[in-house]
Amino acid sequence: MKFFLDTANVADIKYWSDMGLVDGVTTNPSLIAKEGRPFKEVVREICAIVDGPVSVEATSLEIEGILQEARDLSAWADNIVIKIPFIKEGVKALPILKDEGISTNSTLTFSANQALIAMKAGTDYVSPFIGRLDDIAHYGMDVVADIMAMKNNYGFATRVIVASVRHPLHIIEAARIGADISTIPAQVLEKMFMHPLTDKGLESFLKDWRSVEV
Ligand code: E4P
Repeated sequence: MKFFLDTANVADIKYWSDMGLVDGVTTNPSLIAKEGRPFKEVVREICAIVDGPVSVEATSLEIEGILQEARDLSAWADNIVIKIPFIKEGVKALPILKDEGISTNSTLTFSANQALIAMKAGTDYVSPFIGRLDDIAHYGMDVVADIMAMKNNYGFATRVIVASVRHPLHIIEAARIGADISTIPAQVLEKMFMHPLTDKGLESFLKDWRSVEV
């Protein structure tokens, strides 16, 4: 399973890229706003650090605007993927952008039906938001399992990004299902490293080692 980082924070992206753990990045308007920096500057910095796809979201609600934004944004760097909200105008844009060679990520998807439509329309990536589903007492990971089954049944080339990840268990479940990608907030990636028995074991190994004559 590929690891994308779900952030627009350049320091975090650099840190985890240096660890060799970042296969791509996803941003959204809220993540960009959180950084308090000019949009284009942040995106170009991220694209220069990451040797993989970087999702940047279009905010227009009608097709002409979506297409124009997609064309403009994709010219900023070679590895930009245009995130398009799952609305009818957005779905109409997917095959057009595919024909133009612009990569797309169908975002704000919450059901297997929405993902099926996006895959049929030729999206390169589809992002089910599992944490937001869990928040309303709907098992988000069930939707991921359904989407992966549909993808495999019909051989769609779309890659499924498990998004809105909240904790390390989500990553285990995504990997168990065989999802293509998880997009992970930096604080969740940090938690995936942690185990008290690793710390305790290391402490006792180092203590015992001090008594050894080398
Ligand atoms: C996905 O691409 C989104 O950026 C993100 O995962 C949304 O997560 P949230 O529900 O934590 O805002």
